[in-house]
Amino acid sequence: MTRTVYVNGEYLPETEAKVSIFDRGFLMADAVYEVTSVLDGKLIDFDGHAVRLKRSLDELEMAEPCSQQELLEIHRKLVDLNGIVAGLVYLQVTRGSDGDRDFVFPAADTPPSLVLFTQSKPSLADSPESKRGAKIISIEDIRWGRRDIKTGQLLYPSMGKMMAKKAGCDDAWMIEDGYVTEGTSNNAYFVKNGKIVTRPLSNDILHGITRKAVLRLAQEAQMEVEERLFTIDEAKTADEAFTTSASAFVMPVVEIDGATLGDGTPGPIARRLREIYLDEARKTAI
Ligand code: PDD
Repeated sequence: MTRTVYVNGEYLPETEAKVSIFDRGFLMADAVYEVTSVLDGKLIDFDGHAVRLKRSLDELEMAEPCSQQELLEIHRKLVDLNGIVAGLVYLQVTRGSDGDRDFVFPAADTPPSLVLFTQSKPSLADSPESKRGAKIISIEDIRWGRRDIKTGQLLYPSMGKMMAKKAGCDDAWMIEDGYVTEGTSNNAYFVKNGKIVTRPLSNDILHGITRKAVLRLAQEAQMEVEERLFTIDEAKTADEAFTTSASAFVMPVVEIDGATLGDGTPGPIARRLREIYLDEARKTAI
């Protein structure tokens, strides 16, 4: 089926949508993005994604392409036009183009490019991976130093995912200076003696929208949470582990670098958090 996508003010069939070859998103990954999930045809935590998008744009001195209200309308229209019940909306803003390649930014009044498209994923809330749990490998974190900005520079995370696939696993957690930073496209947690441990926010990791919601819900459910640096060995010998992201919610982890966690099935805290999160997400979706 041909999707309808959004490009710079127009709703078009995906086969007709175009961006300049000089666009800095294409030439230099000079772009920021957001991924918002859709359940029951509604957007999950849209405000959180819009606020983070604004922060990413501000950090890179990139112009806002339109207002938050307009962004919401575009998201909703695409979900509607493409009949998305469960899936994702991908949004990308780039610094645009002044018609040539140059390391110097184009003039400040150069219009940014705004592209959105949907991805239908009927089993998003009920994926087979969430039932069996993910297998993780660890790899070195060699990304740049501003991982709090959600840029389109995804080559290394993509390579990390491929390293995991080649090792017969699902994903990779990255390690810097001996401590786990995050997953290739998610935040990382382990659970020991009932306590949930995750790395504190800094420029070293993305400030996950799902992370924020899950930590709040965990505390409301009287679960103990500790934000501190942790090693892969701690995670390997934990009772359970999990990741969070807008595209996989709370994903249990059952194996790290070949070490089985617990009995090798999704742990009770990860399963409970997934349930609480999905419940809340559906209730507050717009
Ligand atoms: N990735 N860390 C990284 C490096 C990520 O790329 C993501 C999200 C997260 C989780 O953030 P959130 O809960 O806001 O989705 C953490 C998205 C889903 C992606 O690139 O597809």
